[in-house]
Amino acid sequence: MDKLWAGRFQKETDKDVNDFNSSISFDKRMYRHDILGSIAHATMLGETGIIEKSESESIVRGLEGILADIEAGTLAFDETAEDIHMFIETQLTERLGAAGKRLHTARSRNDQVALDIRFYLKDEVDEIKKLLTALIRVVVEQAKKNTDAVMPGYTHLQRAQPITFAHHLLCYAQMFLRDLDRLQDAYRRMDAMPLGSGALASTTYGIDRQRVCDLLGFAKITENSLDGVSDRDFCIELGSAIATIMMHLSRFSEEIILWCSWEFKFVELDDAFATGSSIMPQKKNPDVAELVRGKTGRVYGDLMTLLCMMKGLPLAYNKDMQEDKEAIFDAVDTVKLCIITFTGMIDTMTVLKDNMRRAAAKGFINATDCADYLVKKGLPFRDAYKCTGVLVAECIRQNKTLETLEIEYYKDICELFERDVYDAISLERCVGGRRIPGGPAVESVLRQIEEIEGVLPHED
Ligand code: ARG
Repeated sequence: MDKLWAGRFQKETDKDVNDFNSSISFDKRMYRHDILGSIAHATMLGETGIIEKSESESIVRGLEGILADIEAGTLAFDETAEDIHMFIETQLTERLGAAGKRLHTARSRNDQVALDIRFYLKDEVDEIKKLLTALIRVVVEQAKKNTDAVMPGYTHLQRAQPITFAHHLLCYAQMFLRDLDRLQDAYRRMDAMPLGSGALASTTYGIDRQRVCDLLGFAKITENSLDGVSDRDFCIELGSAIATIMMHLSRFSEEIILWCSWEFKFVELDDAFATGSSIMPQKKNPDVAELVRGKTGRVYGDLMTLLCMMKGLPLAYNKDMQEDKEAIFDAVDTVKLCIITFTGMIDTMTVLKDNMRRAAAKGFINATDCADYLVKKGLPFRDAYKCTGVLVAECIRQNKTLETLEIEYYKDICELFERDVYDAISLERCVGGRRIPGGPAVESVLRQIEEIEGVLPHED
């Protein structure tokens, strides 16, 4: 195929250079957005009289035909084309002749590609938000079933204080809610229409940018032609929001992996969401969670690619920027796959409440409450803390828990202790007493659930 620039050049492009330069293998996924952008541009060119109305109409029909053929599978992408933009323009010209050649009036591939990525990614953000919302709903459903499942809360991975599994799960719901917010925020800045920026210096044609913006459903037009073609902040912001989602999924995965181990056995994954071993017949492995944790590194890499790609670029467009696509597409594809699989895994897992309760009974996680008991009877907290420490040491010596240590030992250490201490340090009381907003008591958790369900976007 004759290159666009054949007039200026004396030689054919080297075959390796052609392959090296080509982006169609990865930008073909933007075909629909490219065509819709061109339809809006051609419509506006016709309305403003920059091209004949009849030509504009035939371009629009031609583009619609190309879209229909691609979607029907009757038009294959030419893998030797330079990019998706040239492929579609060439197709149009083959179908329409002269009229097709007028489509690119008052436009450059630089503003065209800037439009296409924004337009394409806006839809992807909507999709990721939907998937994340479904995950939050599943997490909330599991929480609802486990408001009474007392488990040890940890710091330093050491048993620390009693909480419930519901409360623990809802911590992830809070992270994912912030992720939704970050996605929305990235969307807001992505939602600016760059066509009209031209190659870099806009255009002398009297085009109607606002009309194109309205036709494409963007919130506003970009304000500076150099910025319109050279801004990739929106890729970086989305990449960062996705990297944060992955970080949250990865922490959650790490816990699932721990909880599935015989050392914890807090949850059992559904057979459909676990894998076996090729040699050890007893194994049931949490591969989904491990893969999510593993893929997190790859998404961080995508974000790093984008940041490094942009850091040394002079204004305005540089071909380096073609590298934005594989990175952001990979981040988008990966996070979607991870959320979908992860949601199924959480939805189907069995929660082993008895094992959680047993683990909560060990490790002196009610020691803080024991100290608080003395504080409520008038002892300064530091003294109460010390007394309880001595009691814990005594328990360890006798291989007992605070619940099973006889009252004499308590009274020996501090005469403020009465028999009602056993009630005060019962795990149910420890959890139930923490009923302030943000606490693990049932009523606080139910309030939290109500709050979350109130802000979750509605399902379509
Ligand atoms: N394939 C190119 C990209 O993704 C399209 C823009 C090409 N512009 C140019 N001046 N060569 O960035």
